[in-house]
Formats: sequence, structure tokens, C-alpha cells
Amino acid sequence: MTGLFITFEGGEGVGKTTQTKIIAEKLRQKGYTVITTREPGGTPLGEKIREILLKGDIDKMSPMTEALLFTAVRRDHFEHVIKPNVDAGNIVLCDRYMDTTNAYQGFAHGLSIEKMESLYNLAIGDFKPNLTIIFDIDPSKSHGNLTEINRFEKMGNDWLTASLNGFREVAKQNPDRCILMPSEGSIEEVSERILKILNEKLGL
Ligand code: TYD
Repeated sequence: MTGLFITFEGGEGVGKTTQTKIIAEKLRQKGYTVITTREPGGTPLGEKIREILLKGDIDKMSPMTEALLFTAVRRDHFEHVIKPNVDAGNIVLCDRYMDTTNAYQGFAHGLSIEKMESLYNLAIGDFKPNLTIIFDIDPSKSHGNLTEINRFEKMGNDWLTASLNGFREVAKQNPDRCILMPSEGSIEEVSERILKILNEKLGL
């Protein structure tokens, strides 16, 4: 049996990481084997490139260099973690994936979503998430829950707002794969919302 690849996407500080852990636990209680992972990262090489991408000055590299590095991390992650686990029948929950590249590098940095999709096709091919849940938030209410400021969070509120609009555009362009989910509410309310979507869309 093949497994499932589910991605959680959205702006900064919307609670994706917390929800990834909670949902993994809930699915394990139902008897599934669940792997949680993240991008950039997920492998020893990916975690090293993560440091390079997230630390330092905003303009230490161009948007296209960023996109290529995120894509390199993705390929390594795909080869070593995502594909083998999906092939083994497991559920892989990933905190950020291709749609952050689409929203941040493609839309907010202006490289174009189409170009980012081409890069993805070159690096990974046809393999896409079975389901992507995009944590949607009103841009005026976001940017308030940041603990550690990374290079992208330093880019300012206008840029972060553009990235949130980028996710809405991605959802519009991929209605079969992506669900735009309101991220307001308590941790429990949001978990319930996600579990309902997983049940309705994937029968989990
Ligand atoms: P992280 O701390 O994991 O963000 P969060 O906790 O908000 O999920 O940092 C990852 C950062 O990298 C985040 O600011 C978004 C950025 N990023 C991109 O710009 N493009 C990408 O393709 C990915 C995967 C992440």
C-alpha cells in the first residue's frame, strides 16, 4: 500500500509546527505510522542548508539563489525521507514544502509562480502532495507570534503580507490539492478543523 504525503503551509507564526505534532499524534492513535518533517530541513544536508538560508542579512543572496537552494533541500529531502516513507505505506506530514517556494519566492519576491513550478518539475517531477492544508490568516492579524526572527521575517510586513496573498493565489490555482483553512481559534479548535479535513478528503 502506498502512503500519503500531506503538507502544511502558511505564513509566519500561524501555528503549523504545533499542529503538525498534534495531528501526527492523533493519527498514530488511530494506528497509522506517521513521520513528521519540515522544510527547509528534514535531512542532515537540508538542515545545514537551512542555516545558510535563514541566518544573516536579507540581501545576502538573490531570490533566485534562494529558490535554487530551497529546491536543492527539497530534492535531498524527497530522495531520503519523503519518497521512501510514502513507498513504505507511511503518512508523511511536512511543515512547509513547494507552496512556500511558490508563495514566497514566486509571488512575494516576484519570480513568478510558473517559474517556481518549472523548477519543482525539474527537481522532483510529477510527485506532489496528496493534500496541502494552507493555514490562512488575515494579514492585518499576522506577524504577531514570532519567537525567533529569521531572514524572511526581517523582510517587513508588506513583504509578509504579499507572501500571505501568494498562498491565497496558490490555493486558487490548485483547488484539487490545496485547502485554504482559517487558522483563527484555539489550538484544539484548529486541530479539530484539520482532522475534519483529513477525514473528508482522505478518509483518515
Ligand atoms: P521556519 O522557522 O521553519 O518558519 P515557520 O516556523 O514560520 O514555519 O522558517 C522557514 C522560513 O523559510 C520561513 O520564513 C519561510 C522560508 N521559506 C521560503 O522562503 N521558501 C521555501 O521554499 C521554504 C520551504 C521556506
